[in-house]
Amino acid sequence: MNFENIGGMKMEVKKIAVLGAGIMGHGIAQVCAQAGYQVNLRDTKDEFVETGISKIRKFLGGSVERQRMTQAEADAILGRIKGMTDLKEAVKDVDIVIEAIVEDINIKKGVYKELDQICRPDTIFASNTSAQSITEMAMATKRPDKFIGMHWFNPPQLMRGIEVITHDKTSKETLDIMVGLCKKLGKEPGICKDSPGFIVNRLIQIWYNEGLNMFDEGIAEPQDIDTALKVAYNFRMGPFELRDMVGLDVALASTGTQYRELMREQFRPPRCLIMKVKAGDLGRKTGRGFYEYKSER
Ligand SMILES: NC(=O)c1ccc[n+]([C@@H]2O[C@H](COP(=O)([O-])OP(=O)(O)OC[C@H]3O[C@@H](n4cnc5c(N)ncnc54)[C@H](O)[C@@H]3O)[C@@H](O)[C@H]2O)c1
Repeated sequence: MNFENIGGMKMEVKKIAVLGAGIMGHGIAQVCAQAGYQVNLRDTKDEFVETGISKIRKFLGGSVERQRMTQAEADAILGRIKGMTDLKEAVKDVDIVIEAIVEDINIKKGVYKELDQICRPDTIFASNTSAQSITEMAMATKRPDKFIGMHWFNPPQLMRGIEVITHDKTSKETLDIMVGLCKKLGKEPGICKDSPGFIVNRLIQIWYNEGLNMFDEGIAEPQDIDTALKVAYNFRMGPFELRDMVGLDVALASTGTQYRELMREQFRPPRCLIMKVKAGDLGRKTGRGFYEYKSER
């Protein structure tokens, strides 16, 4: 495909709302503010918003310590981010809404229906879903042409790529604006069509699941499997460490969706993943998953 003509911005994006201040949302808000955008960061409770903002502050503090930016630059970035819980206030007058809330299609569709009523008619909706259907969410709104997938990678501040996912009704203008935005954010956009897990999660899911299946089959412990990959191939993390970083609830929701929709055995959620989620051990964000963590949240 030739994307030469893509990326010229028609709408001038100035203000962005990020919904969800969790693992992904706070990082997405930081990247947008670093690129100079005004950002409203919204979650359902004050404490969630505050946790997200304190993680941004900590990240920026580390960058100042390592002399990657000045304190004044860090302060200016933080100054562009407004935390809030009121949805109407968060999306008032924004050009783009980037949604990074729980990986549940019904909750997401409910939020999009509400957004459709309260946002400006030209506001673009971009979902950071890992594997839910962009088409289905778009069709919950009256603006499917302004609906697109914007799949970031964890942690958003450090990972270079963003998958930009179109569906049959995404307009060329929406795609252009989103590709242009990714570039302005310093990211490399990769375009693909809506399908469960898009490109990256579809490929990586099989790798994750085989690692977890080996543990279920009693072949090796999580640490042995992670270490084997790290020492053999210089991987920075193994499947269990990565799953804990992503969040096991998000991991289960995405492999579950791929299993149901692609109907292939390799996407079947591993038993150990199901049991961890049932027990509320969701990885780093709860302090325990396949490993234990001290004061992550
Ligand atoms: N964790 C990852 O590595 C990763 C990577 C790429 C994409 N994603 C996707 O990003 C989205 C968020 O994942 P996460 O890992 O940041 O989850 P998370 O659990 O860390 O954060 C989700 C946040 O959304 C909030 N929330 C719930 N309902 C809300 C609502 N109605 N409005 C606003 N906020 C609401 C929650 O309070 C929570 O703070 C999911 O769709 C997930 O699939 C996650």
